[in-house]
Amino acid sequence: MYRDAILKKFDPRLDNILFILHELQDNNPQHYLANADIEKCADYLNIPYSYVHGVVTFYSMFSLKPRGRYIIRLCDSPPCHLMGSESLLDYLKKKLKVDVGKTTADGVFTLEITSCLGICGVAPALMMNEEMIGNLTPERVDTVLEERRQTS
Ligand code: FES
Repeated sequence: MYRDAILKKFDPRLDNILFILHELQDNNPQHYLANADIEKCADYLNIPYSYVHGVVTFYSMFSLKPRGRYIIRLCDSPPCHLMGSESLLDYLKKKLKVDVGKTTADGVFTLEITSCLGICGVAPALMMNEEMIGNLTPERVDTVLEERRQTS
């Protein structure tokens, strides 16, 4: 079972909880933490389920709901805003036919917004799963989405 393999990579110490949860979420094709993930983590660290659940709900990077194969996190901080992220957000919403926090009907993309990604020099920017993508234009967004659709 992949969950056991993930847990074995970490010592069963409380300070590994975020690493474990990240790894469990990243290995779920729907990019979320299922009840089974929380139970496994709690058992492994010998802590209550409610503690792990509390950690998951505290951090916005964790999700308790299934999400798309690709998580699009568009930066919404001032430098990206000044460079047009707001109109890109409208463009993405129309193109994907979803609102922020929602997943496309085909389950490929989830649209989220985030604060500064640390690459303001190439604003406006987004993060697609682990990949940073800057200098965004509607055309660049089209290309990026098309490339991901072809690999999903
Ligand atoms: S403000 Fe968008 S990457 Fe920094």
